[in-house]
Amino acid sequence: MDRRELVRSMWVFGRVRGPRAMRSAWRQRRADAVGLPPRGPERARVPGRVTGVEPLPGGGIVRFARSVLRVCVSAGGTVFWGWDGAEPLPSYALAGEVPEPDARVVLEPDTDGGWRVVAERVTVAVSRNGAVEVRTPGGVVLRRDLPPRWWEPVGGGEARWVQRSEVPADARFFGLGGRAGGPRLRDGVYRLWNSDPRGSFGPQDDPLYVTMPVHWVVADAGTHLAFHDNPWDGRVTLREGGEGAGSGHDRPGLVEVRMSGGPLRCWVVVGTPARVLRGWTQLTGAPAVPPSWALGPQHARWGFGSAEEVRRVVAGYREHDLPLAALHLDIDHYDGHRVFTVDRERFPDLPGLAAELREQGVRLVSIVDPAVKAEPGGAVYEDGARVGARGAFVRDARGEVVRGVVWPGECVYPDFTDPAVRGWWGRLYEERLAQGFAGVWHDMNEPVSFTPFGDMTLPRSARHALEGRGGDHREAHNVYALAMARAGYEGLARLRPRERPFLFSRSGWVGMQRYGGTWSGDVATGWPGLRASLSLALGLGLCGVPYSGPDVGGFDGFPSPELYLRWFQLGAWLPLFRTHAAIDAGRREPWEFGPKVLEYARAALEERERLRPYFVSLARLARLTGAPYARPLWWGAPEDRVLRECEDAFLLGDALLVAPVLTRGTDRRAVRLPRGRWYDMVTGQSYEGPGQVLVEAPLSRVPVLVRAGAVVPVRGEEGTTELEVWAPAPGRSGGGLVVRDPGDGWERADVERYVTRWVDGEVRVELVTDAGAVAVGPAGVRVRGLGVTGGGEGRG
Ligand code: NOJ
Repeated sequence: MDRRELVRSMWVFGRVRGPRAMRSAWRQRRADAVGLPPRGPERARVPGRVTGVEPLPGGGIVRFARSVLRVCVSAGGTVFWGWDGAEPLPSYALAGEVPEPDARVVLEPDTDGGWRVVAERVTVAVSRNGAVEVRTPGGVVLRRDLPPRWWEPVGGGEARWVQRSEVPADARFFGLGGRAGGPRLRDGVYRLWNSDPRGSFGPQDDPLYVTMPVHWVVADAGTHLAFHDNPWDGRVTLREGGEGAGSGHDRPGLVEVRMSGGPLRCWVVVGTPARVLRGWTQLTGAPAVPPSWALGPQHARWGFGSAEEVRRVVAGYREHDLPLAALHLDIDHYDGHRVFTVDRERFPDLPGLAAELREQGVRLVSIVDPAVKAEPGGAVYEDGARVGARGAFVRDARGEVVRGVVWPGECVYPDFTDPAVRGWWGRLYEERLAQGFAGVWHDMNEPVSFTPFGDMTLPRSARHALEGRGGDHREAHNVYALAMARAGYEGLARLRPRERPFLFSRSGWVGMQRYGGTWSGDVATGWPGLRASLSLALGLGLCGVPYSGPDVGGFDGFPSPELYLRWFQLGAWLPLFRTHAAIDAGRREPWEFGPKVLEYARAALEERERLRPYFVSLARLARLTGAPYARPLWWGAPEDRVLRECEDAFLLGDALLVAPVLTRGTDRRAVRLPRGRWYDMVTGQSYEGPGQVLVEAPLSRVPVLVRAGAVVPVRGEEGTTELEVWAPAPGRSGGGLVVRDPGDGWERADVERYVTRWVDGEVRVELVTDAGAVAVGPAGVRVRGLGVTGGGEGRG
């Protein structure tokens, strides 16, 4: 145990009565010793030589001496391949229907005795010994998956497997869920096992709460995403390639996926980043659209001691003239930390408090933990025991209910992989709605059981329903929170059918965006934590989860005023904008850091509110297209190697480039610009990309640049939506998509498409309709970027 681990076990010990956690750890170890098959001798296997093929719609089956491979290209160009009879279903990741195979593809012999599936957008070539290449229609290789290798227990049981893939030498990797050390994933080993890092985490900590076996490969030859649809524990090793300096031999990039069980099947989506995410969210589900209030500023704290304290904090926002859309109640409003209860001494009239805050425009959001205190007489505990024939709670291999330790003490865990349990759990949210809560925040759902050593989760031998198929925690662990999110989302949607649920969850897996978003979890206070916050949001966005954001100010400790402010300024430009901290951490209200910070935080809040219509548009567009609100700079130009390296700025939608300050003592910073003209949103100064420019980054704000020609919906004086239009560069045109807020229900939202161009020395703004382009303005339109000074050309 290294020092860090020691400190962390002491953290668990200190927080949760140690001996109980210790007993639970031993129990877990014992359960696995008897509940898991012993790992005896194994036999290794590779596919062997090709023996035949069978064409099928979308591709076909290629038979090998010791395995079979199914290849199918869908009508949208998405590639599926599965070994050993693996089919797309069953899958926790997929949204519903498996994409239709493309009936036009042909399966034909390839050179060297292999076969290839030729589709319009991709060619999939299978070599005679089982390597699978995905190529562009022009024949450029995007990835080469080498023949896999399995290890099968001789006595029968789950096979583990490994697959290595080669990618172009210049490729950069992204994704794998929420990773703190990115967004570009450096060479290293990344575990696929949702984990609470104990205490707080920084860029060096991995894995975290949301791991996903999906990675992006961004290379000159093209961009693609590969998803190994398998929730088992695994490891992905990434190694960037290298250009063979003068030798003419490039060293390819390498991806090695090593799984401890489960199917070997993979989806590959190729195309521009926008196309990849569209295909990805068609496959795994469109992101839920948060209600528009959830795009406003939110405040949380672990440790609001009473209704009075909540009132004081909300009054503080009002008195300091700071907008606030929601306030979150953590576990301390529960009675003895029991989920779905209220401490009536400290919160005597929660519905009354909720109504009072609602009058002031502030919604209440409730934390919901999955673990239920194991106590006779406990309402949820007793009720859960009556679900179905065997009760709602996870059992071990001997049939005993598994017990773990979380905040309320000894707990049991609902098995969300059982549809009946999801139905039961979803109905429990009625109590939350009756208390006046407008949304929920799922926590501790990796799931956590405190232990001073080993994995802080359930025994791997614990049994799960897995939708009736049956299995154990090795398979269910990574999808536990995803299934909990489904239970919560479906429950809320049933209970309050006219409103879209607001839900975000600490843990999750591929497809979690169908039910809501996530947040950073316990990011450590410090400049590295600030950087990790951005890494998480960008990586998750690329994995299809667009709604997330950090604990502004960091979860633990006491941020300096400067760090707090810079975090606040970053958070203000991310989808979930929420201050939050641990019970023993310093305050996070903007007025706690002196008058300057208050003034600048207010400016950030006001700007966020001014841009609320833009965030609403981005939320809707994320649902329609899969494009995350916050995107890496290479989004529009993945072929630009310099942009691929840029990790300290991001695009917010099509219009904005946000360059947060991530280092101490900064008052100006270098910003890498994609091609085109960009305006500083505050000074209006213009810059020409591509290249790097130095821009002012005073404490009062972080640089935000607007693309010339952009149309940005903003909140006008009267609360109406206005269009802020930024002049296109001379001789150029621009435009933008705007989706107005149709409400917090299920109303259909219409996408308005605007174009902007110069006509007779003036900027004309037109709405594109079926009947042609219609000029809009001047009412409701404000053109900016006219007659401004140039800030210079980008260099480098
Ligand atoms: C862990 C969560 O990550 C954190 O946000 C929360 O405050 C604590 N649990 C207490 O509920």
